[in-house]
Amino acid sequence: MKPIKVGLLGLGTVGAGTFNVLRRNQEEITRRAGRGIEISMVAVRNLEKAQALIGGVIGNACEIVTDSMLVVTNPEIDIVVEVIGGTELTKQLVMTAIANGKHVVTANKALLAIHGNEIFKAAQDKGVMVAFEAAVAGGIPIIKSLREGLTANRIEWVAGIINGTTNFILSEMRDKGLDFATVLKQAQALGYAEADPTFDIEGVDAAHKATIMAAIAFGIPMQFDKAYVEGISQLQAIDINYAEQLGYRIKLLGIAKRTAKGIELRVHPTLIPNTRLIANVEGAMNAILVQADAVGATMYYGKGAGAEPTASAVIADLVDITRLATADPEHRVPHLAFQPNSISQEVI
Ligand code: HSE
Repeated sequence: MKPIKVGLLGLGTVGAGTFNVLRRNQEEITRRAGRGIEISMVAVRNLEKAQALIGGVIGNACEIVTDSMLVVTNPEIDIVVEVIGGTELTKQLVMTAIANGKHVVTANKALLAIHGNEIFKAAQDKGVMVAFEAAVAGGIPIIKSLREGLTANRIEWVAGIINGTTNFILSEMRDKGLDFATVLKQAQALGYAEADPTFDIEGVDAAHKATIMAAIAFGIPMQFDKAYVEGISQLQAIDINYAEQLGYRIKLLGIAKRTAKGIELRVHPTLIPNTRLIANVEGAMNAILVQADAVGATMYYGKGAGAEPTASAVIADLVDITRLATADPEHRVPHLAFQPNSISQEVI
């Protein structure tokens, strides 16, 4: 069978990671997907840099362009992978890809939290899939766990450390007594932070991810605008030290909780007893706790950012879409498209 053709938008950290992992594990990925997955077109900003990377690392025939519209309108492309970031241009690109009958894989949490309802509706109308495992907690398969692994359950709440930058800052301030600004610079140098780090430190990035988890866990539309969002910029070393003396750790948590009145959706610094597992999640790591009626509490831990952890999630989505698109078009849409089951469960 002919390989499925992928068009990649963006060849930054995640795009390059996706290339590398696809190449390294090509044999197993092909076997698991049931056919080859080939990146045949890439849209980049810097042509020379991309040619050097793809030519040297991959050495296969892959068309490199600077106009992203050429990818999303190319009739040869089956799946578009969006790893550019930002919300305005990417919305236009993703909507154009869908209108052109392409499946979409995106790592873009802001795009989905803000424009997800419109995007999923367009995908449903067109009969294509939009997959987004990489948008929440990088390499941790939390979307799959909420949607598939826990599908028998009524989920009560989801709470997690879903922003690595802020967890790194809080850990380093506590352990090394460094000040906020110094550690933020380190987080940026290590590539954890968003292009605009205000999104990290003010809790916006965590709120994007919590919005997506709430939508999947409770079957509600994306309601980012109703989230309570408070970051860590007001915290000082003295707060962290006092908490420590009292036996607590401060963690920035993203929380989505079912209540009698509706869904609570919030992000804020939280005091957690230091005996709890989640209080001991350090550095840029992510961890998510899910409380559900049948299984009880489950916890998911791993790298929430970085080239290959995020690529791991992108490729998992590529494999899912390849299998479904190849096997039976009748059954693919309910599986991966996000379809809110009720609009009565509003975020309060
Ligand atoms: N800036 C994000 C974080 C990157 O620190 O978690 C991964 O979404």
